[in-house]
This record gives sequence, structure tokens and C-alpha cells, in this order.
Amino acid sequence: MSRRAAPSPERSPPLPETIRWSPDGTGLLILDQTRLPESNEERLLTTVDDIEEAIRSLRVRGAPLIGITAAMGVAALARRRAREGASESELRASIAAWIERLSEARPTAVNLIWALRRLSASIETTFPDPPALAEHLAAEADDIRDEDRRMCRAIGEHAATLLADGDVVITHCNAGALATGGIGTALAPIYVATETGKTVRVYADETRPLLQGSRLTAWELSQAGIDVTVLADSMAGSLFASDPPDIVFVGSDRIAANGDVANKIGTYGLAVLAAHHEIPFYVLAPTSTIDLDSSTGSDIPIEHRSPEEIRRGFGSVTAPEAAGVYSPAFDITPAALVAGIVTEWGIHRPPYTESLATAVGRARRPRA
Ligand code: MRU
Repeated sequence: MSRRAAPSPERSPPLPETIRWSPDGTGLLILDQTRLPESNEERLLTTVDDIEEAIRSLRVRGAPLIGITAAMGVAALARRRAREGASESELRASIAAWIERLSEARPTAVNLIWALRRLSASIETTFPDPPALAEHLAAEADDIRDEDRRMCRAIGEHAATLLADGDVVITHCNAGALATGGIGTALAPIYVATETGKTVRVYADETRPLLQGSRLTAWELSQAGIDVTVLADSMAGSLFASDPPDIVFVGSDRIAANGDVANKIGTYGLAVLAAHHEIPFYVLAPTSTIDLDSSTGSDIPIEHRSPEEIRRGFGSVTAPEAAGVYSPAFDITPAALVAGIVTEWGIHRPPYTESLATAVGRARRPRA
């Protein structure tokens, strides 16, 4: 099934809706990000195979959105099983199997495991019948998405204070609306600053190997009327040397307890360039991206992508079959290169250990 995805009225400025329930609630409609910017299409996911494939192949991607998709996906599948007449024990067994399978779909983005653990914990109680259990999961998934939307807005408001009128930002990969349930993380301050009348220009690294910067960030920003220029990753050094940007904003897939940051491959190189040229390098991410169980970046598992994405990623043969391919999807930027980490609670400054732990503790407090 495919249909042009409509802009979401809840996202200001009008930004694409990345995910929604299918009309009967037993499937998901995702904006298929592998088709952008050529084509703006929704895709219906109705099975665990569909959901796993969509996450692995980056039809949906970006750490927060991966977690939201998995949570909504399990809830949609549970609704279907409950409507088909599954008993509570059958339903619980299926939910556990779906959660186990989806948890492994992408190893670096901790939001995936975070969202699925939260979903699991939400049903550690009794329910009158299987449909009630399934509806409870759907409500929890909606909460995860709505909270992400609020966290994005808060991150944007905190980080917009770092921007002056006329500033030039460089970003890497896509940590925008397309990667979240809201206005993004790294791109959120750009939207907020623009709303308050500031003019901000953006350089978007093309981002290897799947071009999330040129295909997605440049598309998303240009749809929102923001001045964006694409540069290949290897050109960032030349830009810093000749016409340096004012600030670097990137997202993250997992932040270790000490502030080391896993993000899309190439982020570390950008951080080294920024340090050399004395340009502030900021990481913007919700507390759901902080993993206190990873003490440092070396504890973070790094996903490696298929060599085919380098050898013939977009059709043409771009490396000989005989050549080996090195393709980690993420790298680690040491905390020492990070001027600040912006969460929904504010701008954290180094050393990070205490303030990140406090932010996670505040986020975990039961809601009133
Ligand atoms: O492989 P991707 O496209 O899922 O990688 C995305 C990133 O690296 C983002 O910067 C990160 O997930 C943060 S998204 C708010």
C-alpha cells in the first residue's frame, strides 16, 4: 500500500508525519524514508516481519523513531491477535517473542530497547481480558510517542538559546522530524529559532553510506523553508578551513554514562574538526538515548552495515567485488570533544557523569 504522506498538523512548522496507526489500529503506516526525496510514500506494516524489515532496512530510522515504531508495532500486532481470539497466555507469549525479535533489529540505538522494556513493564499487571491488555499497550506506545514529541520541543527550546540571528549550523545524518515523533533533536533548535524570527543557515553533511543528510535532512529542512546546503562528508574539513560554521549540532543513538556519544559514522571526524577549529560541538538527545549501563563509549555495541551498501548502494557498482568493505554505521565521539549535551532538562556541561544521571533519574520519576 502506498499513499503520499501528509504533513502533520501537530508538528510546527508543518513537518511530515513519520508514523501513525492504520485505520483499524492493527497495523502501522510509516513514511518510507528509503524512498525520499524522490518519492513521498506511506507503507503499511501488518506483521512482525514487516516491522523488523522496516527497521533493519532504514525505512524508519533515527533512534527515537526506531523505539516508537517498535512500541507501536508490538501494540498493533497485539491488537490483531486479541481480535483474533487469542487467550491472555497466548497473547503474552507472542508479545514476549515480538519484543525479543525487534530488540535485536538495530543494536546501537538504545531507544529501541528502552521503548520495548517500557512496554513490557507496562503489562506487569492483570487485565480483564486480552483486548484490554492490547489497548493498554497501544496507550503506552502513544505515550512514548507523545513524550518524545514534548522532549524534542524542550530540546529545541534549550538549544535555540545557543543560536544568534544569522548563525550557520553544520549537522550530520538526520536528527530531525524524520528521526523522531516530534520536531527532531539536532534540527529542533533550528525550527524554534526560525519561529522566533532568527535566520539560520544549515550545512547538511551528505552522510555515508546511506546519505541520510542529503536525502533526508536537506529534504526536511527545505520543506520547512530553511536555507540548507549539502556537502559530502569529506568536504567538511575544507568548509571549516575556509568558511567555518558557527556551531555543530548532532543527534545521538546512545550516550554513555560519562558523556561519550555514539552517533552516525562520521560524527567523530566532525567533532575532531570542530575541536581543531575551536567551533562548539553540541549533542542533542532525549534522556531515552542515555544508557547509564554503558559506562563509556567502549561499552556501546556498534552496528556494521552490509558491504553491499558501499559496493552498489544506489544501483551502480561503486567498489569491486574483490575489495573488502569496512562499514560501521556509528562511531564514538569522546565526551572531551563535546561542548554540551542538550536533553529535555537543559544544557549539560562537562563533566557529564553526575548531570546525565540526574537527568535520567528525573525522567524516570513517575508522572503525576
Ligand atoms: O542509521 P540511522 O539513520 O538510524 O542513524 C541516525 C542517527 O545517527 C541520528 O543522528 C540519531 O539516531 C539521532 S536521531 C534524533
